[in-house]
Amino acid sequence: MSIEKNQKSGAAPVPAAKIDFAPEDRQWIADRIQEVLATGQLTLGKYGLEFEKNFASYVGVKHCVAVNSGTSSLEIILRALGVEGKDVLVPTNTFFATAAAVVHAGGNPVFMDTDPESFGTAPEEIERRITPKTAGMIVVHIGGLVSRRMPELQEIARKKGIWIAEDAAHAHGSSLGGIKAGSFGIAGSFSFYPTKVMTCGEGGMITTNDDKLAEEARIYRDQGKASFLQNAHTRMGYNWRMSEPHAIIGVKHLERLPNMIVARQRIAAVYDEALRGMNALNPMAVPGDGASNFYKYVVTMRDKVDRKRLKGELRERFAVSLSGEVYEEPLHRQPVFEAYKTAPLPVSEDCCARQICLPVFASMTNMQAMQVVDALRATIA
Ligand SMILES: Cc1ncc(COP(=O)(O)O)c(C=O)c1O
Repeated sequence: MSIEKNQKSGAAPVPAAKIDFAPEDRQWIADRIQEVLATGQLTLGKYGLEFEKNFASYVGVKHCVAVNSGTSSLEIILRALGVEGKDVLVPTNTFFATAAAVVHAGGNPVFMDTDPESFGTAPEEIERRITPKTAGMIVVHIGGLVSRRMPELQEIARKKGIWIAEDAAHAHGSSLGGIKAGSFGIAGSFSFYPTKVMTCGEGGMITTNDDKLAEEARIYRDQGKASFLQNAHTRMGYNWRMSEPHAIIGVKHLERLPNMIVARQRIAAVYDEALRGMNALNPMAVPGDGASNFYKYVVTMRDKVDRKRLKGELRERFAVSLSGEVYEEPLHRQPVFEAYKTAPLPVSEDCCARQICLPVFASMTNMQAMQVVDALRATIA
């Protein structure tokens, strides 16, 4: 950690996030990158296969397909499911890529309002928006939390004959009732972008128990080629492949994931305990039979405060940087989705406006967490 001191508080800065690779892991990665540079096996090789095998075993699914981003994995799933000309229910409180992938795959995103308990989607909202044109829904586990109502969403999907695809970009290792994110629907999509709980630089992963979808995903990933060795292009694919250096980083960080999650849960427990008496701040609750990876520690502020000013004050006076929101602005208010505008989605706008995300990272100390809490007490309470 930096020893640089903050001028006003005298405390060392608490960063919003931190990526942790131990020196021995960096060496392990460097050695294997040397190896693939020497052999020339730089893409679609043995480390990609190892990463896929290990991730499938970790999530508890039959197949994994490694790709170059969480955006690619979403689009591939949607193309494989065939959403062209169809409606796909998408939460408005999510990252741009969730809805953009629907558009890129030829479908129409239908935005849904937010469940304030999980920041995801409540079953009632699915019932409200579903029509005969609906092909499926994308469930996003915001901040790493699997909603306690996930089984109800599965039940609606089953009854109505639509699919669930999970955007599990936040949810590596999160679970409900012992079932891991990425295995609740027809397919799951993960991101390994550097801010995520585990990373490989850039990368994504498709998880599925469906043999046909896995096969289609492999075709789409490699320029729509029916097989690696033939030049017959049978699908409108793209270059969505993951390179071997990325896969090598992923193999090592996946090994560290369980311990990194335990460390994040320890920090969350410090926050839970310390915030218990503060009425002004309401942390998101994890269901009793659930486990969050705490990609984000999301707190709803009782009052609407000027978040930009609050963040500035925490940084300037207390050397505490808050993490990015999930999300600052709902997608239905983004100019690029003007064409897909629905009726007002007021809960989403409120959830987005009143949330803050406290810093969490695997190497964070309890003292740093308390520094965050003390800063919040001084500024908010
Ligand atoms: C919810 C969600 N979906 C999709 C993505 C896209 O992932 P990537 O950045 O790996 O393309 C992200 C990543 O930031 C995300 O947070």
